[in-house]
Amino acid sequence: MKLKEKIVIITGASDGIGKEIALRLSKENVKLALISRNESKLKLVSDECIKNGALDSKIYPVDITNTSKLAEVSEKILSDYKHVDILINNAGIWQKLKPFYEIDEEVIDKVIDTNLKALIHVTRLFINSLLDRDEAAIINISSKSGVTVQPGQSVYSASKYGVRGFTDVLKVDLKDTNIKVAGIYQGGTNTKLFEKVGENVITDDFTDPKDLADVVAYMLKQPKNIWLHDVRIGR
Ligand SMILES: NC(=O)c1ccc[n+]([C@@H]2O[C@H](COP(=O)([O-])OP(=O)(O)OC[C@H]3O[C@@H](n4cnc5c(N)ncnc54)[C@H](OP(=O)(O)O)[C@@H]3O)[C@@H](O)[C@H]2O)c1
Repeated sequence: MKLKEKIVIITGASDGIGKEIALRLSKENVKLALISRNESKLKLVSDECIKNGALDSKIYPVDITNTSKLAEVSEKILSDYKHVDILINNAGIWQKLKPFYEIDEEVIDKVIDTNLKALIHVTRLFINSLLDRDEAAIINISSKSGVTVQPGQSVYSASKYGVRGFTDVLKVDLKDTNIKVAGIYQGGTNTKLFEKVGENVITDDFTDPKDLADVVAYMLKQPKNIWLHDVRIGR
């Protein structure tokens, strides 16, 4: 896909992997709609994206688990940009490692609502606009935890296996349309994901989120008849 002037929505663009994807795609002269909760961090990323070459960058602060507010934001994006070409569902949170019987109700709801339910609702809100384009793409950021069983990750894994199931069915549902769908299943990446919920993980030798952003750009830049459906990344 030729990325110049394409309108790209990225959820979780204020930090970590989403921020790096925004910065990397800016170099391809895309137009960005950046979503996350933290307005001031989004603004900093957005300013940097413009410096990097983005032709436009607008920010849409919202908690994506608030479905009615998310719907308002989707209407605003479609009114600002008129259409959408690429959706990158990246926003997510970690669940502190614990055996299942020690995970409380609030954590279960928050992790499933953010990582799985909100991703499905974001996709629902933009699917018609994506279907209207000659070519379009949806990339869902799942995790290695969406394909591999790891102890202490029951709820996080449930959310990421859920993203994988949703992505795979979306792929077959949309197979005769203009929308290409891919899932990314990466291992540990050097971001603040773990620290944010008080988990002490040494991330220094994890994948650099900038390298992951390069992979996303590579996936999107392939010619029409090449598409990487299922990308597993790790050492
Ligand atoms: N880091 C890893 O090792 C790793 C490995 C495999 C998969 N992943 C997945 O990669 C994705 C990105 O993670 P990351 O490592 O880049 O984490 P991160 O640095 O913590 O970034 C997460 C992003 O999601 C946003 N976000 C979280 N909850 C949100 C909500 N309710 N509404 C809107 N935005 C929300 C955050 O922004 P605000 O706080 O501003 O809302 C932030 O921009 C996640 O889906 C994660 O599960 C990460």
